[in-house]
Amino acid sequence: MFQTKITEMFGIQYPIIVGTMMHIARAEMVAAASNAGALGILASAIFQNQEEFREEIKKIRGLTDKPFAVNLNLFPAMRPIDNREYLEVIFKEGIRIVETSGYRAPEELAKDLKEHGVTLVHKCVGVRYALKAQSVGVDAVTVVGFENGGAVGALDITTLCLVPRVVDSVKIPVIGGGGVADGRGFLAVLALGAQGVIMGTPFLVAEECPIHPCLKRALIEATELDTMILMRSIQNSYRAWVNEASKKVAELEKAQAGLEEIVQAGAAEKTKRMIQEGDLNAGVISCGQGIGLVKKNHAHERHHRRDRPSGGRAAPKTRGHLTMLSSWRQGLALIKRKPASY
Ligand SMILES: Cc1cc2nc3c(=O)[nH]c(=O)nc-3n(C[C@H](O)[C@H](O)[C@H](O)COP(=O)(O)O)c2cc1C
Repeated sequence: MFQTKITEMFGIQYPIIVGTMMHIARAEMVAAASNAGALGILASAIFQNQEEFREEIKKIRGLTDKPFAVNLNLFPAMRPIDNREYLEVIFKEGIRIVETSGYRAPEELAKDLKEHGVTLVHKCVGVRYALKAQSVGVDAVTVVGFENGGAVGALDITTLCLVPRVVDSVKIPVIGGGGVADGRGFLAVLALGAQGVIMGTPFLVAEECPIHPCLKRALIEATELDTMILMRSIQNSYRAWVNEASKKVAELEKAQAGLEEIVQAGAAEKTKRMIQEGDLNAGVISCGQGIGLVKKNHAHERHHRRDRPSGGRAAPKTRGHLTMLSSWRQGLALIKRKPASY
């Protein structure tokens, strides 16, 4: 349909990356993204050992023959992560695209990955980090603004400023995001000079997203005011959905509670329980300000479904395709009308 340096680099149809999502970016979600023409990213940190990780890669290959990527986590984690173990599997399984994300550039990993012919993308939140990533040899850099769901770092630069600053500062292709949740945002990020657009939050309400329906419904109802920054006091800031658990974390931080208490209040195990069992206040889930736009898109989709002759039931969906892409269908329709290519 239209090409950018990122669609060419990854061999994908649309310049859209469905972001790594802890507990969520498993085989079904990744394959759905890739089957839809975007790039899905498997979150390696979900898997406790090499065997589970390898099985999930095989599962993806059973669901799609399209390109997908694997994320290696460089953030501080409760469970010590040895990325070398994941790397062994990545090389044996012939994974072609790896994304790293974290507060440091993938210095130690880059050489190995390049020697194995892997395309390497690093995700970060500032010009200086993007420059550092470029200097260690990454092929592309992803930058997400302060609006984004998940890690926001310490610089608090919004997408509208961050993306063009990084585009003007590096020589490699840039993927931009943070707060993109419909076709307007998608086009805007491309207009800022990015060659690809990353989204995570909007896909939390995708039909294929494996979170409990109660949580999905609550997120659909959320607005752009329903997120907050947590863990700033322990230098691990991230944007999360406001619920009882996130308020508790914020209270503990304000009261200067001990590290262990703060970390336990936001522990991954609790988030996992919330995602699987739908207990809305059990844990903390990353969520960006774009959640406010998702609600409107979804309402729009429901409205159209009501107009269908089938009496409001959605038309049958092709299994394994990310169905909730009204956002970028709208963007792509606009792009089709544009004579210029990006
Ligand atoms: C529920 C959720 C979990 C996430 N988990 C991770 C993660 O484990 N690692 C990571 O690098 N990014 C993670 N992210 C960030 C996304 O990959 C992506 O960069 C971000 O969602 C894009 O901005 P947006 O949320 O405004 O769409 C997560 C985001 C969400 C919403």
